[in-house]
Amino acid sequence: MPKITSVEGRILFNSRGSKTIEVDIVSDNRFLGRVCSPSGASVGKYEAVSFPNENPEDSLKILKQNSQKFIGLESSDLKAIHDTLRSLDNSNNYSIIGGSLAFAVTIASMESASKALEQPLFKTLSTDSEFKFPIPIGNILGGGAHAGPGTPDIQEILICATGAKTIEDAIETNLAVHKELRKVLQKQDPSFTNGRGDEGGWAPKLENLKALEVSAKACENLGFTLGKEVALGVDFASSTQWNEGKGKYLYDRAGFENSTGEQIDFAADIIDKFKLIYAEDAVHEEAFEDMAELAAKFPNTLVTGDDLTVTSKDILTKAIKVKACNAAILKVNQAGSLYDALEFANVANQNNVKLITSHRSGESTDSQISHIGIATGSKMLKVGVVGGERIAKLNELLRLSGHDFICGMAEI
Ligand code: PGA
Ligand code: ZN
Repeated sequence: MPKITSVEGRILFNSRGSKTIEVDIVSDNRFLGRVCSPSGASVGKYEAVSFPNENPEDSLKILKQNSQKFIGLESSDLKAIHDTLRSLDNSNNYSIIGGSLAFAVTIASMESASKALEQPLFKTLSTDSEFKFPIPIGNILGGGAHAGPGTPDIQEILICATGAKTIEDAIETNLAVHKELRKVLQKQDPSFTNGRGDEGGWAPKLENLKALEVSAKACENLGFTLGKEVALGVDFASSTQWNEGKGKYLYDRAGFENSTGEQIDFAADIIDKFKLIYAEDAVHEEAFEDMAELAAKFPNTLVTGDDLTVTSKDILTKAIKVKACNAAILKVNQAGSLYDALEFANVANQNNVKLITSHRSGESTDSQISHIGIATGSKMLKVGVVGGERIAKLNELLRLSGHDFICGMAEI
């Protein structure tokens, strides 16, 4: 089995231009695994800490001081790599070494192992013999923490080619809707600048419902029926609106406030009216009972936890007990190490909670998450539609198209 022969790190920048850490792990002196950590803008309260003291340099220093501890370990032994990281940081949120370091070391190690073993990363991460492509779901219109004043309060309107039979078709359909949406936006506002948010979705000056209407219009213009060839999704990212002191959701840009009951109705009306296939964080990150209400009401929509479940197997277990969601986002850096994230995936899969493997708004051009989505049996891969760092993940799916072990698209 391949053994780790060198570990190095460096400071680079993510797609938002913020500093982050990249780690190189080499097995048997020649098989390089290289991973650069992403980071979020609308971060869940219970996520792993990105860096100690918010300083990537501190994580890098820790890596340099401890790199010898990884030398000689089998690079495919994810548990051994994880345990070594845990010997440096036994906190519950990686506050000592930084979740970004745990992310980069564990994934780079598995990538290095997969090269040495001459198999794709998804095969190294799973013992399954058959895989499916997760359906790409991507941001076509952005607001909230990912775009500026005047844009919708809700964070993301997403497109998903639910009727696509192939990965090529799914990606092309999402791209077509993204392009058509620009035309719709330009027509209804000639001063639209073509500005985009952090994840590549258009960022027009529009109120929430209007933004949904133009998104639906773009689909219709292309001859698609919502709920058939394509479907819309929304990441409400409601913790951004939630004001603990007032006990209300504040929609500052649109100029209204929602009580808890009003927020549930607001989300339910949107799910109904736009036939959403996907509704993420429709209530704030600690409102498990309110999410459960929506999950019970919409069994055919992926009522999804992101900030709610933060890729934590313990929090997901709590969510499952109260039936808070029927789907959950998997973001490795929310958990910290890949080992933690795969444990979370097991809990989800054993309990029929559908997985959506996801990018962060601040990304690198890496594409390992495409493999992680395949290996975990994720139903969807949420990686945006355009932008170099988003396209990189979609292009990786296309490279894997026709691969012997992958047969067809996931069924939701
Ligand atoms: P983030 O947003 O990466 O900025 O946290 C993505 C999301 O909320 O899904
Ligand atoms: Zn989210």
